[in-house]
Amino acid sequence: MSKAGRLVVLVSGSGTNLQALLDASADPSYGAQVVAVGADREGIEGLARASRSGVPTFVHKLGDYPSRQEWDAAIAEEIAAYKPDLVVSAGFMKILGAPTLDAVPVLNTHPALLPSFPGAHGVRDALAHGVKVTGCTVMLADAGVDTGPIVAQEAVPVLPDDDEAELHERIKTVERRLLVDIVGRLAREGWTVSGRIVRIGNPSGGESK
Ligand code: GRF
Repeated sequence: MSKAGRLVVLVSGSGTNLQALLDASADPSYGAQVVAVGADREGIEGLARASRSGVPTFVHKLGDYPSRQEWDAAIAEEIAAYKPDLVVSAGFMKILGAPTLDAVPVLNTHPALLPSFPGAHGVRDALAHGVKVTGCTVMLADAGVDTGPIVAQEAVPVLPDDDEAELHERIKTVERRLLVDIVGRLAREGWTVSGRIVRIGNPSGGESK
């Protein structure tokens, strides 16, 4: 069974999900602590949030590397240096490669109800499709785009006059709460994965990961 006390959080933007994790981990009974924050770009609010909390940061820009493989290796090495139990990809707009995925479990959050509307525009795509209910998904990352085993989901209504920004904000309010809840439970109770089925807490026949 895996446990998740030390977190490395990866961000590409405003970092409100990161902030929710930083706030939650201020309470020792939460069971998890953000030990570093990584990004694929500089000058973002997510990195500023980490610095204000005294959490070390690192940046690896894809364009600074001759190849994707070298970027994958560099970010995996930097992540490993913090000895995380879990990496949380919280609005990180890159797919992590095998060097990271093979070394540490990665949790990802997505602003749609997977398997519907994967990819970078989950909110826009759901709105364009005319769905009346969408939501958010917390899943374990694999090599695909939003294809990993689902840990938790929560539904959010689409209102008649929603635009993408309004709908995304409504989803993010739920997403932050769900992510904090799931990361805390994974840290305190552990988890197992059997095929696509993720179970939090005591294993009941699932293989340990
Ligand atoms: C979240 O909705 C995440 O699922 C998506 O981008 C958003 C990031 O928000 N991929 P923030 O940077 O945590 O505020």
